[in-house]
Amino acid sequence: MKFFIDTANLDQIKEANELGILDGVTTNPSLMAKEGIKGPANAIKHYKAICKLVNGDISAEVIATDLKGMIAEGEHLAKIDEKIVVKVPMIKDGLKAIKYFNSVGIKTNCTLVFSTGQALLAAKAGATYVSPFIGRLDDISYDGIQLIAEMVQMFAVQGFETQVLAASIRNPVHIVKCAQVGAHVITSPLEPILALLKHPLTDIGLEKFLADHKKVNS
Ligand code: G3P
Repeated sequence: MKFFIDTANLDQIKEANELGILDGVTTNPSLMAKEGIKGPANAIKHYKAICKLVNGDISAEVIATDLKGMIAEGEHLAKIDEKIVVKVPMIKDGLKAIKYFNSVGIKTNCTLVFSTGQALLAAKAGATYVSPFIGRLDDISYDGIQLIAEMVQMFAVQGFETQVLAASIRNPVHIVKCAQVGAHVITSPLEPILALLKHPLTDIGLEKFLADHKKVNS
């Protein structure tokens, strides 16, 4: 399973990358706004900075919602760097845009996916990634992990190359469960990734090892 970080914050991207487990980055308009990035020129500058930091796929989302606009914006984004994956919303014109980008060799990430039916359409159109938002489903009492399992199984049965990219990760348990049900990728904020490291017995054990060492070495 690949690990992507879901942020546009350069310090957090750097920190995750230094852990040695990072395979890519996902951004969205909300995450870009959180970093105060205003206007297309600054957005492009920021994507370039992310591309310099990480060796892997970097998702950059289109703002347009019509086919012509999405194609123009996506082609512009794809020219920034070969790492750029054009993120397109799961709407009718989005599906057509994914089909187009696939035909010209531009990678895509179909976002705002909440059902297996939507995932099936994205895969048929040739999306590189499909992004189900599991935290937002859990928030409204649907089982996000169950949806990941169903998508993974459906893609395997059908032989689709589209990868299930579990998004809207809220905690470390989400990440482990995604791995258990076969998600191809997770994208998570930094905190849940760092939380995977933590266990109180590790801290207690290390403290004791160091104290015992000090007893005979000081
Ligand atoms: O990649 C999608 C993700 O950023 C959404 O997360 O926490 O806003 O549901 P969240």
